[in-house]
Amino acid sequence: MTLQHQPLPSISGTTRVVALLGCPVSHSLSPAMHNAAFAAAGLDYCYVALEVRPEELGPALRGIRALNLAGINVTIPHKEAVIPLLDDITEEARAIGAVNTAANRDGRWIGTNTDAAGFRRLLELNGLYRKGIKAVMLGAGGAARAGLYLLGQVAREVVVFNRTLLRAEELVRALAPYQGTGRWEALPLQREPLAAHLENADLLVNTTSVGMHPNDHESPLPDGIEIPAQCAVVDMIYAPPETRLLELAERSGARTVGGREMLLYQAVEAFGFWTGVEPDVQAMEQALRAGLPSG
Ligand code: ATR
Repeated sequence: MTLQHQPLPSISGTTRVVALLGCPVSHSLSPAMHNAAFAAAGLDYCYVALEVRPEELGPALRGIRALNLAGINVTIPHKEAVIPLLDDITEEARAIGAVNTAANRDGRWIGTNTDAAGFRRLLELNGLYRKGIKAVMLGAGGAARAGLYLLGQVAREVVVFNRTLLRAEELVRALAPYQGTGRWEALPLQREPLAAHLENADLLVNTTSVGMHPNDHESPLPDGIEIPAQCAVVDMIYAPPETRLLELAERSGARTVGGREMLLYQAVEAFGFWTGVEPDVQAMEQALRAGLPSG
């Protein structure tokens, strides 16, 4: 990686600290994004990444309270385990069953999950957040929970395809209280049903890990499936930036959005949750781009 000249916050006796807790954390792009945004906003905050082993999460949270940090991000493997250590969580976090962000509100630690709000912003900015759409989602893991929660608020129909049908069924059942008026269905990730549903879908969202670096040549779509041009495709994978799935979608003339935007906007939402301030998105994007391999 080349050295980048990014604005860094100046640290003083009044600087508030926000930390990422995870294991591992050394690869994280969150410090670069958030420190760039703190500097751009002229906020006296800094962001550090702290490696916390699973058995140390309890003591880490006690330390964070004692040290009066301003906020935290939480990543693998702590997103679920952190919930009982907080004072309260938002409805999003409850629905998704995972916390990726928490803020210190006068000593009370409130957890949230910014993936759904980040996803919403990504859809809005790309003109894809429209009431009454039909969405097809691939995958039923953690990323899919945020995806379904959000799509449930806007889509008339969401069909969740997963290699393991049982997991897709469990996901649909778990989020049923947040379903709204749309129709939800869980199906196995197989060619015929997927092709049939894509025919009149407005949006295809990949939440599986298929196609993620180093398996860049793989696509989550079964062989022989063509993406219709009217169906916009969002891939939550951010490395590589242009996945095989997005390549296929582009080839058939469909609109595409890559996972870097997801990474960016969940961070934008987290920044707002800690500070109450809308960050300089361009500064964050620049920091993100500098930290990721181009391509
Ligand atoms: P995350 O929290 O990032 O969503 P996860 O919970 O491990 O990660 O979920 C990974 C998703 O990718 C799952 O939907 C998984 O399907 P299964 O539930 O059948 O495991 C999907 N996935 C991973 N490898 C896959 C593959 N080779 N083919 C199809 N789906 C795959």
